[in-house]
Amino acid sequence: MDKLIIEGGVPLEGEIRVSGSKNAALPILMACLLAQGPVELSNVPRLADIHTSLKLLNILGCSCSFEGNRVYSECRNLVPEAPYELVKTMRASVLCLGPLLALLGEARVALPGGCAIGARPVDLHLKALEKMGAEFKLTEGYIKGTCKGRLKGAHITFDFPTVGGTENLLMAASLADGETILENAAREPEVVDLANFLIACGADISGHGTSVITVRGVDSLKGCAYRVMPDRIEAGTYMVAAAITDGELRIMDCPYQELDAVAYKLREMGVWLQEENGYVLVRRENGVLRNVDVTTQPFPGYPTDMQAQLMALMCFGEGAGTVEEKIFENRFMHVLELVRLGADVRLRGRTAMVRGVGKLVGAPVMASDLRASASLVLAGLAAQGATEVQRIYHLDRGYERIEEKLSGVGGRIRRVRA
Ligand code: UD1
Repeated sequence: MDKLIIEGGVPLEGEIRVSGSKNAALPILMACLLAQGPVELSNVPRLADIHTSLKLLNILGCSCSFEGNRVYSECRNLVPEAPYELVKTMRASVLCLGPLLALLGEARVALPGGCAIGARPVDLHLKALEKMGAEFKLTEGYIKGTCKGRLKGAHITFDFPTVGGTENLLMAASLADGETILENAAREPEVVDLANFLIACGADISGHGTSVITVRGVDSLKGCAYRVMPDRIEAGTYMVAAAITDGELRIMDCPYQELDAVAYKLREMGVWLQEENGYVLVRRENGVLRNVDVTTQPFPGYPTDMQAQLMALMCFGEGAGTVEEKIFENRFMHVLELVRLGADVRLRGRTAMVRGVGKLVGAPVMASDLRASASLVLAGLAAQGATEVQRIYHLDRGYERIEEKLSGVGGRIRRVRA
């Protein structure tokens, strides 16, 4: 397995460009199943999860090619089965459920199962699709869904503003009979990007970006050309990289308006951020960082996907702070690894208490999930000596060319291939 070797302690300086958003591209790729006619997507990041999605689309009967950062797709004879071999490697595969039911009236999608950051069930997706007339059976590890005729518009109130659930329903409702209203819908920018893609294909959607989305079903969707939004979590990770190494980064293609909650916390810690024409400049304000309290929330609150990175930064802040995780029940696997580097973090339930220690010292660490891996890379960039981050296939699922981008701004980081 590949690993990263990082020699820490170098302030990062220069320009770093943000790639297209993984979490926006994944549902948009699944939405390609709905389009009659060719789709051309640009700004698609070259990541393991995108390759998995393309494999899945090909298996489902949608022929796709990936050239540079463009995906070309065209669907012909769709097949309603997403096999376990693919779903087990990527939970977002469950996003083909809505499109398959809407188009074919049936779907067989392997049940995703647990993952490193908690149980993550899909009950809210299924409950909402049932309100639209679908019926589900769970047998032999598969979710088998059917509906008689087309899905029917419905009034759905989510128990929790689930991102994936909102996305599955947006896709299903776009081709349903009549109007669907989604209440307590997720407001994440990636949900908005999916809605905009569907609209570009001819869907009738309004209210996306708020917690009440209205979808009026149409007879068919056409192909289109669409540019995927930049990745706000990658951008936020590079903001922390500038602050943790006491350097200065110019972050290009930064979706700054989607990073309000992150920018707010970073400012509170003593990080200076300024948006200029198309980029964001980031550095410490006067060299000193102060620790803060943060709680993860659905958008527009502080994102769970930026929790581990902020914790790495807090190891270098003055005083104590807390990190409360409200979205996932088991998202603190980075804590023990940070402790291996010298961090002072104590866990009590879903809250981590972090006391700044001023310095970390490099050691071998093991990445356990995508954002945990990012926090270990950040910690390694600021630690004294060498940090070896093992199991970086997690990172390759979410950060395009990370070692190349970080070494481009002075980071001493290299990949050792297994
Ligand atoms: C998406 C993102 C992920 C991010 C998360 C929260 C993608 C591919 N992934 O994940 O990076 O961390 O949003 O911002 O876009 N839940 C249920 N039942 C359900 C659905 C969800 O209990 O049917 C629970 C989950 O277990 C979890 C919480 O709700 O605890 C949030 O899940 P959800 O918002 O659906 O996140 P994902 O779409 O899985």
